[in-house]
Amino acid sequence: MTEKDFIPKTYSNTIESGSFTWSSPSNIALVKYWGKREHQIPENPSISFTLDNCKTTTTLSFLKKDANEAFSFDVFLDDEKKDDFKPKIETFFKRVELYLPFLKDYHFKIETSNTFPHSSGIASSASGMSALALCLMSVEKELINSDVTLKTTEEILNQEYFIKKASFLARLGSGSACRSLEGDLVVWGKHDAIKGSSDLYGVKYPFEVHQNFKNYQDTILLVDKGEKQVSSTVGHNLMFGHPFAQERFKQANKNLSDMVSILKDGNLDTFIALVESEALTLHAMMMTSMPYFILMKPNTLEIINKIWAFRNETGSKICFTLDAGANVHVLYPEYETSQVLEFIQNELVAYCQNGQYICDVIGLGANKL
Ligand code: PMV
Repeated sequence: MTEKDFIPKTYSNTIESGSFTWSSPSNIALVKYWGKREHQIPENPSISFTLDNCKTTTTLSFLKKDANEAFSFDVFLDDEKKDDFKPKIETFFKRVELYLPFLKDYHFKIETSNTFPHSSGIASSASGMSALALCLMSVEKELINSDVTLKTTEEILNQEYFIKKASFLARLGSGSACRSLEGDLVVWGKHDAIKGSSDLYGVKYPFEVHQNFKNYQDTILLVDKGEKQVSSTVGHNLMFGHPFAQERFKQANKNLSDMVSILKDGNLDTFIALVESEALTLHAMMMTSMPYFILMKPNTLEIINKIWAFRNETGSKICFTLDAGANVHVLYPEYETSQVLEFIQNELVAYCQNGQYICDVIGLGANKL
């Protein structure tokens, strides 16, 4: 599919008003996306676990207005009006207007809430942008008259297209958001070994996954809840002209190929090595860009060292990954849950801000409420 396939022909229904609610999860990448081209096209493919507890719920209410040149919307977080969220959504609307030509026909009220604390350092952009994209897709679905039996209409009503386009739109809001729609494992970015993979949207991981990864656990240790000093947009841009960029993009491709075998065989030792190396490589790219920056905090390193010591002493299959921040995602198989939670309580909570952490598990994606 190409971008053109996401431009609707005409809408045959008119609707005056309505509202839709979707709940959409966050995700954590195992092979990281870092570096993008124009229009949020990733420089390398990535794969992520979908999370089940860290979600954003968004209700989009809409009321017909006179079509004019301006977008009209208000945003609320936990019932509080958030004008500081508007520029990001305005940018998103501009990017997706071609694909959702009804955007200027309505006034929208966007009411959103997160299951995780807003100032937790957990980015709400993946869950937030995917929830909003799904709400907008529900509006589009209403605008298409289901009585018309044209093939194209059938296609548009098709659930697969609905999710693909939602993922395509979410990507234009925040790249990694396109991996938050469906499936426990999601691939985004063209990779030769993964049929159907695309730079334009995320796809459900299509191959066999070993039992070891069923209900895989992710405990997110909240090390630093402050605003990041460097946004991921700035970080991605620093991959332009980065001295190690081309090697990194090649490595990510290879790591994704290796991950396919690991997921099939269930080899947790090679899984650990790949996932931790990816996390540290992501941060190494930040440290070696110009300007350079460090998002890890002293407690991030304390936790990593404690995890390594615990693994050496006990033979546990615990490992860590990081996103673009100081928080640590502690990953482990379901059968180790009680042992690892005890270790976290006894040894890692001390390094979390206010002792806070969030227990999560791989989930299946977004839901319409
Ligand atoms: O979706 P963005 O533009 O915020 O980029 C996020 C990139 C990482 O979280 C660091 C890695 C990833 O693949 O999710």
